Amino acid sequence: MSASFPPGFLWGTATAAYQIEGAAQEDGRGPSIWDTFSHTPGRTLNGDTGDVAADHYHRRPEDVRLMADLGLTAYRFSVSWPRVQPTGRGPAVQKGLDFYRALADDLLDRGITPVLTLYHWDLPQALEDEGGWPARDTARRFADYAGIVADALGDRVERWTTLNEPWCTAFLGYGSGVHAPGRTDPVTALHAAHHLNLAHGLGAQALRASLPAHAQLSISLNTCAVRARTASAADEDARRRIDALANRIFTGPLLQGAYPEDLLDDTAHLTDWPFVHADDLAVIQHPLDSLGINYYAPTVVSAATDSDGSAADDGHGASDHSPWPGADHVSFHQQPGERTDMGWGVDPTGLYDLLMRWTREAPGLPLVVTENGAAYPDRPAPDGTVHDVRRIRYLHGHLSALHRALADGADVRGYFLWSLLDNFEWSYGYGKRFGVVRVDYDTRARTPKASAHWYAKLARTGVLPD
Ligand code: NOJ
Repeated sequence: MSASFPPGFLWGTATAAYQIEGAAQEDGRGPSIWDTFSHTPGRTLNGDTGDVAADHYHRRPEDVRLMADLGLTAYRFSVSWPRVQPTGRGPAVQKGLDFYRALADDLLDRGITPVLTLYHWDLPQALEDEGGWPARDTARRFADYAGIVADALGDRVERWTTLNEPWCTAFLGYGSGVHAPGRTDPVTALHAAHHLNLAHGLGAQALRASLPAHAQLSISLNTCAVRARTASAADEDARRRIDALANRIFTGPLLQGAYPEDLLDDTAHLTDWPFVHADDLAVIQHPLDSLGINYYAPTVVSAATDSDGSAADDGHGASDHSPWPGADHVSFHQQPGERTDMGWGVDPTGLYDLLMRWTREAPGLPLVVTENGAAYPDRPAPDGTVHDVRRIRYLHGHLSALHRALADGADVRGYFLWSLLDNFEWSYGYGKRFGVVRVDYDTRARTPKASAHWYAKLARTGVLPD
């Protein structure tokens, strides 16, 4: 049976500044940690960088037209902090703000709701040089930046997201080191996680102070559908540990105003968390208008046995360092069955489970799927068209799961497909294609794939076919 979505449901695509914009040295933009990291030999596939990326900075009108032609009703993008504040502090660069004002205007002119993310991983390098996210002051700098962007765009943009996937920033950036800035220390990563939480809270306060009352505040988390490989007590304990480090380290302070006791116990041999100051938790538990969920694949764990692979082999990129502080005795497993080009298992029930979980644990808080999608090695046919049937199958499965969650009582307000365009997939460079629109990296020409047309029809009709 075909599935109808509620009227007003937001149908969008998502992108992030460093992954699509290019123009890395234009109009006063300062360097970010991703410029430094991607220009360091050995950090990204083939030494790929975001210097040009999909050249969106110069093709903004064309890209918005593309969305309008597809009939999409929303677009999630991020603001590049170093385009606005090249060193992460001080007065704003007007041209940087102008770009995002023009983008918001283009979207609004075409009836597309802008959904703005303030931080999608491109920390100004100058702030990393002063300590980065492990330093408390970075959270205060973020709040100043949030206020600047709110003053400049608050009359146009209603939907605001503070951070995208702070887990990746803290634990891939400062734990396993596969993301910028590439540091590898478990305690440093815990400092970073707390300061990201604090940045969210201080940023939310700054947004509320500047934005009109109807503005909506959110955060996008890659909450993790963690599954124990067996029902044994040891595997269940592994699941609990990873759930604490992946999910509750953020949702605890955000939703309940406290770090989970078991997380503090599990990491007590590493640190007694002196970086959490008395008033921080009240700041972090700032009321949210929705919770953004990014979901790609479930995570399967067990207690480690001698024959298991390394703890870092969890689908987030190879490293000798684990991104999971204090969880050395946990092993990660491939889910059997189909996988995407990232090697991630295809399992829509993970999305259903997460939506139902946050419905239970955050009653009354609307949910938005702020990312979901798949990388496949699409090849154009001789006539240039791209028949990405596996991506359509992936999307169909996940949207069916979302619809089932709606039917079972989850209050999900929108879906943002990752991604509009093929783009710079972080340490995987241009080797992984997530777009529903193909980007030819020689010419930067855009070609909507079959999935773009499929998704456009869904956005226009609100009906998911069988
Ligand atoms: C999550 C991140 O937010 C995004 O930047 C990334 O490209 C996708 N996942 C795919 O890995």
